[in-house]
Amino acid sequence: MMANPRRNSYPNYQSSENPFQTHSLPSVSSLVYFFKKPHAFPFLLSIFLLLTWISLRLQRSSQFSSSPHLHQTHNKWSREDDQKANLVRFSSAFPSQISKDKRGWLLDPITLALDAAISGGAVSCASVHLGEIRPGGFRGNHRHHNCNETFVIWGAKTKFRLQNTQVVDKGYAEVVISADEVAVATSPSGTAHALVNVDPIRSTFFLGCQDSVIDYNSSTTDFKVWKDI
Ligand SMILES: *[C@@H]1O[C@H](CO)[C@@H](O)[C@H](O)[C@H]1NC(C)=O
Ligand SMILES: *[C@@H]1O[C@H](CO)[C@@H](O)[C@H](O)[C@H]1NC(C)=O
Repeated sequence: MMANPRRNSYPNYQSSENPFQTHSLPSVSSLVYFFKKPHAFPFLLSIFLLLTWISLRLQRSSQFSSSPHLHQTHNKWSREDDQKANLVRFSSAFPSQISKDKRGWLLDPITLALDAAISGGAVSCASVHLGEIRPGGFRGNHRHHNCNETFVIWGAKTKFRLQNTQVVDKGYAEVVISADEVAVATSPSGTAHALVNVDPIRSTFFLGCQDSVIDYNSSTTDFKVWKDI
């Protein structure tokens, strides 16, 4: 007998809510009715396009306005580390500083290094080396005493190591360039350098410009500088 009043009060509670519900229902149902009609399609499409445009704008603005710290965590590198390694990197994709139209990238390593204040490289090429480093391979790990060198590195995920006595403990700076980047780096005379392909499949390509002709027979180059490479 105690349950009956509760049972009776339940519908009462619902019915007291109903006036509010029935009041809001017509506007919702008319919206549903509108969206079900074929002429709503262009309207929905334009809303969708507007939202897409807004999200793209937000993405773009966050890319350009992000702080150096955010940029660093996103790309896993920092300009500071690149500077320690005498290196500057560019996106190989259009548009970028080195890719001004859709044909692809083109650069002058000497002027780019100078513009980026990367010092110590060759300012003229007395000799040039162009090469490939297959996955797992490396080049360099040596130190030339008779020439400054400027590098261009691209094509694969590549580790660039440069002797830098200002880096505590290690004595070198090391950065990783990704496959979609092109890097220009310099190694002044008497500085050890190494290029290591750390990509699982792609080949690294590089160009080395030296301001004198390297005589590998003489004692002007120290080999196998780092034991861990
Ligand atoms: C290397 O660069 C230094 C400093 O710019 C310069 O004095 C020197 O002549 C260059 N060439 C060689 C082979 O060391
Ligand atoms: C390099 O040294 C080897 C012997 O150590 C000699 O036979 C060769 O002629 C040298 N090459 C040059 C280009 O000096």
